[in-house]
Amino acid sequence: MARSILCVLLLLICANHAHLALAAVVETVYDAARIARTLVEQSDTSTGNMATIFPGEHPDLPNYPFSMQEYYASCHSNGSLTLLFLPISRHSRNVLHASSHAASISVTSPVPAASRPRVSLLGNITVFTDIGSVPDRSAIQECYLAKHRDARWWLPDDKDAAHIAYWARFDPQAIYFVGGFGG
Ligand SMILES: *[C@@H]1O[C@H](CO)[C@@H](O)[C@H](O)[C@H]1NC(C)=O
Ligand SMILES: *[C@@H]1O[C@H](CO)[C@@H](O)[C@H](O)[C@H]1NC(C)=O
Repeated sequence: MARSILCVLLLLICANHAHLALAAVVETVYDAARIARTLVEQSDTSTGNMATIFPGEHPDLPNYPFSMQEYYASCHSNGSLTLLFLPISRHSRNVLHASSHAASISVTSPVPAASRPRVSLLGNITVFTDIGSVPDRSAIQECYLAKHRDARWWLPDDKDAAHIAYWARFDPQAIYFVGGFGG
């Protein structure tokens, strides 16, 4: 399917450098983009590993990388991902602190063996603090809950929810794809 892949940069990396040229032949950029898209969209859990960076002024962990699981849902035809953004979380605080709102979300193959493909999406996050400004809000909510039913207890605009939450959109700007050993 030639659905548009909105990445400005695509890096093809092969864990075995001796086979780099071979991998580039075996796996075209188009194939890599297609595999990456499939990994993200057909994940059984729609759960990735998000990475952000602690603020430089953090008293204990300045500029440390921070990585932890994060729910996502692929609710846009162009590959942008829907997130539930809880300001209380470490990731959210790191993202809001960086003017770029940058983050990375990586997704493995269902069996995350070293020989299997994995992808890291690098991009940035738009947070909709005004619930009224969320484009296609009911469709977004329905799409997200179809993947993460447990999230119904902490939806934005729910007065009874334990934490404040906002809808957010992650826009991938680059894709870092690893096809596995030897491609
Ligand atoms: C995300 O990055 C793009 C490209 O650099 C930029 O145009 C956009 O303003 C950024 N969005 C946010 C929320 O920072
Ligand atoms: C993808 O589409 C959404 C609208 O559905 C748009 O807001 C977003 O910026 C697009 N993503 C990228 C990476 O351009």
